[in-house]
Amino acid sequence: MAQEVRGVIAPGKDEPVRIETVVVPDPGPGEAVVRVQACGVCHTDLHYKQGGIGDDFPFLLGHEAAGVVESVGDGVTDVEPGDFVILNWRAVCGKCRACLRGRPWYCFDTHNAKQRMTLTDGTELSPALGIGAFAEKTLVAAGQCTKVDPAVAPQVAGLLGCGVMAGIGAAINTGNVGRGDSVAVIGCGGVGDAAVAGSRLAGAAKIIAVDIDDRKLETARSMGATHTVNSRETDPVEAIRELTGGFGADVVIEAVGRPETYRQAFYARDLAGTVVLVGVPTPEMKLELPLLDVFGRGGSLKSSWYGDCLPSRDFPMLIDLHLQGRLDLGAFVTETIQLDEVEQAFERMHRGDVLRSVVVL
Ligand SMILES: NC(=O)c1ccc[n+]([C@@H]2O[C@H](COP(=O)([O-])OP(=O)(O)OC[C@H]3O[C@@H](n4cnc5c(N)ncnc54)[C@H](O)[C@@H]3O)[C@@H](O)[C@H]2O)c1
Ligand SMILES: [Zn+2]
Ligand SMILES: [Zn+2]
Repeated sequence: MAQEVRGVIAPGKDEPVRIETVVVPDPGPGEAVVRVQACGVCHTDLHYKQGGIGDDFPFLLGHEAAGVVESVGDGVTDVEPGDFVILNWRAVCGKCRACLRGRPWYCFDTHNAKQRMTLTDGTELSPALGIGAFAEKTLVAAGQCTKVDPAVAPQVAGLLGCGVMAGIGAAINTGNVGRGDSVAVIGCGGVGDAAVAGSRLAGAAKIIAVDIDDRKLETARSMGATHTVNSRETDPVEAIRELTGGFGADVVIEAVGRPETYRQAFYARDLAGTVVLVGVPTPEMKLELPLLDVFGRGGSLKSSWYGDCLPSRDFPMLIDLHLQGRLDLGAFVTETIQLDEVEQAFERMHRGDVLRSVVVL
């Protein structure tokens, strides 16, 4: 029997979000219903609300979540009711050309639930990133549920479902940061700070945090930044070069998603260095760079979707590191809020007051 729960809906472009009754169908073959315990507010939810990701309104927002599997459909063997899981937006198919080549972290045919959640009048909802977890319960593909050690608090675990995984993975997977590397991170919100934490975990020798907000730079320092640059006051390219013997950083991670910060990242890296774009641009943005510089500076320009993570490999590993005290995921949670406070959380995010607001249910 379908269930009715409360969920946070973005009804239309730039309209305030509101709580509506969401109809969650019973899980069909390969699907699972998850009782959401916590879901972080990610900048991508704001992008959805602003129409930056598409105009498939109404969206059921929220995608950075942890919870307990309530029921599973036919053929589901990897998870069962009662399992504590982090929801992921990369349920790999195992059959696409990326999976078949042994690169499932690029899977081009990821799974979501086949059935749709709806409003009570039957209007179909588009769950953010195929998850939709600002809701008491949500319907996902079973492969979107990754089991982790239940000793971790849900509001901490859920963060790995998106932003924190994206940032850590941008450093350790996409950027391949290694022992002794110099790294610069431009934009130190939840994602950028996670890139800082990931760089520290990987053994980077120098980690330069860049932001336009001193409060963010302070937090970045507590996450492992060895140097900070306020790019409102100081040219970040010059500053990063100065801090790296005049050369630039081995890896520069852009976690804002704007052409001007990408250009900074491009010029702030050493010859043959790596730029990782993890910030998400909007459709109208354009980038112009001298092609000769692209050629002449060598190295690699990469984008990082979800930190090139493989949830089954990375989520349990990072939770274990957290439980051992080697990765302070709790530091990302600025505040816990209720379901009806998401709109205010967007405002606080916009003002830069928080790293992560996490809805607890
Ligand atoms: N690629 C992925 O898989 C993925 C996953 C999650 C989020 N994201 C994206 O990552 C980006 C960051 O997300 P977040 O949740 O950390 O957002 P956030 O709003 O918490 O952080 C953005 C940070 O950038 C800083 N900033 C803004 N303009 C700047 C500038 N010109 N120079 C330097 N710093 C600047 C802000 O002060 C803030 O600290 C967003 O674009 C988000 O959509 C990407
Ligand atoms: Zn695949
Ligand atoms: Zn996100």
